[in-house]
Amino acid sequence: MSAATPATPATPDAGTTAGTALVTGASSGIGAAVAAALVRRGYRVYGTSRDPERVQSPVDGVTYLALDLTDEASIEACAVAAGEVDVLVNNAGESQSGPFEELPMDAVRRLFQLNVFGAVRLSQLLLPGMRERRRGRVVMVGSMLASFPLAHRSSYVASKAAIKGFASAARREYAPYGVGVTTVEPGAIATGISARRTQYVADGSPFQDAYETMLSRLNHHEAHGTSAEKVAAKVVAAIEARRPRQLYAVGNAAPVVFALRRILPRGATEFMVHRRHGLR
Ligand SMILES: NC(=O)c1ccc[n+]([C@@H]2O[C@H](COP(=O)([O-])OP(=O)(O)OC[C@H]3O[C@@H](n4cnc5c(N)ncnc54)[C@H](OP(=O)(O)O)[C@@H]3O)[C@@H](O)[C@H]2O)c1
Repeated sequence: MSAATPATPATPDAGTTAGTALVTGASSGIGAAVAAALVRRGYRVYGTSRDPERVQSPVDGVTYLALDLTDEASIEACAVAAGEVDVLVNNAGESQSGPFEELPMDAVRRLFQLNVFGAVRLSQLLLPGMRERRRGRVVMVGSMLASFPLAHRSSYVASKAAIKGFASAARREYAPYGVGVTTVEPGAIATGISARRTQYVADGSPFQDAYETMLSRLNHHEAHGTSAEKVAAKVVAAIEARRPRQLYAVGNAAPVVFALRRILPRGATEFMVHRRHGLR
């Protein structure tokens, strides 16, 4: 791997046939697994980190670029550095939790800048090239929580619902150009994200007990969750599908729970989601 940041737009290596992929947040977890899977599939892969020099376990074959999705100039520089991109995986994200009324607005704004607006902006910069070349894929890494909302995760749920909304509407704009835009919703995935989750609970919060109960179940599910490699396989399937579906899901027995969601009343699904997290 190389931690270099090319100064000029990159061009595919001779012999690389699958195309060029850019995976945001490839320094750990799902992003690293997706980047590794795409290298194996023959893509030239750029992965991003806020600090490419300090990526702890760089993925072999991945060139790391600097990207901070909360910084507009960094997003633009990353798009220039990557050059012609055939596959964009908007994976980087923050996991945030806290009772709705106790979420500081600056934290909510940061979350939306990172999980939503940053990914939207990067996509806006790379999609015109895909459209002109009449080939490309954009994958948003969402969360099953957007389909199954959970108390005390409102900002995160809303950010993942928002990015899915952008993708689900825009996909019809790009389908005529052979460009697929899709969302992959992981369930609980064992990446260690629990330790990096930002939390906002006020001292003496009336929600403290319910919040702690939810959080301990959430962390337990994540620690015993699906592997990042399984998510990566789903992302690759979405990328390589001739006509990518609007939505893919992986983990948390996704096929079963989405089927139940279709046949059960909304209230029943809501009840089940909260019971699974120790809440009424
Ligand atoms: N793990 C789960 O249970 C789960 C479930 C559903 C959905 N997801 C979603 O899957 C994605 C990856 O999650 P993960 O579990 O693999 O998490 P992770 O290991 O914590 O990875 C998060 C990635 O985001 C990058 N990142 C953080 N802040 C950034 C910023 N300001 N600008 C650019 N990049 C930034 C990090 O890179 P640097 O720190 O190197 O910059 C890191 O590579 C996220 O969108 C998450 O919401 C995860």
